[in-house]
Amino acid sequence: MVIVPGPASSNLALNVAENLSDDVLFLNLRDFPDGEWVVQFDVENFKEKRPGEEFIVIQTTYPNQEKNLLQLLIMIDTLKDLFSVSPIVVVPYLAFSRQDKRFLPGEAITAKTILNLIHDRGAKRLITVDVHNEGIFSHVEMDCVNVTAMGEIGKHLLKIGLKNPIVISPDEGAINHAKIVAEILGCEYDFFKKKRSRTTGEINVEKRDIEVKGRDVVVLDDIISTGGTVAKAVKIVKSLGALRAYVACTHSLLVKDAFKTIIDAGAEKIFGTDTVQSEISVISIAPVIAETLKK
Ligand code: R5P
Repeated sequence: MVIVPGPASSNLALNVAENLSDDVLFLNLRDFPDGEWVVQFDVENFKEKRPGEEFIVIQTTYPNQEKNLLQLLIMIDTLKDLFSVSPIVVVPYLAFSRQDKRFLPGEAITAKTILNLIHDRGAKRLITVDVHNEGIFSHVEMDCVNVTAMGEIGKHLLKIGLKNPIVISPDEGAINHAKIVAEILGCEYDFFKKKRSRTTGEINVEKRDIEVKGRDVVVLDDIISTGGTVAKAVKIVKSLGALRAYVACTHSLLVKDAFKTIIDAGAEKIFGTDTVQSEISVISIAPVIAETLKK
């Protein structure tokens, strides 16, 4: 295999290459004064492609989503031109995937469009992590695999010395994630219920009486964007008497003042993975990606 690190996931990609002891095809991104840019693969320092060798492009698509997506599409297209290959693409955070249906009349289903763009450019397989809804894969005729970071998150939380913990997801839909992490921690898990207005975007996390008094709580979500959802859950568990509230997620987009919002709500610490390179991305999903590629 040849690992091709995209500019948005260079650290993760090199980590995956190290896990697999695979070759790396580096690229250079040159900017132009008008905001345009060009991708140039370092073909001069790259040995001949062996017959049947797979190319693996690793590029996440967190903000700036459009730029990162366009880089991904251009990388796929250029690899096709240069090496006549259909690469496997690893998109650790798949942008626009939350818009997985027409919530309001006339809306675009952006998840469908993005998947088809990736496929149409020539990717033969997509690997992504904790995608919001696996149902979106039915929109594209491409082999799509969703892996979870929850095992790595659980292993990380095991090391921090939680006292009588409980894992809570701020949304019933994320209960399976809470279950995986709770099993690793050997503790209980539960959920709150979340409602979001489709027009204003405002969210409400409903309080439920969960026994958290004197316990460490892990508030676990797939994505932290503005931090509003987990901050509301943290406030609830603190009001119910939790000892400490920790927050963990796969994709830490951390837009606006998300970090401050969550800490101000009473969280002790926030952990994310390197599907997105942010200030809290302390957990690597490289072993999970490497394992999936080996299969
Ligand atoms: C949406 O349903 C996701 O699971 C997250 O809960 C959501 O994206 C978090 O957004 P924010 O951090 O802006 O509340």
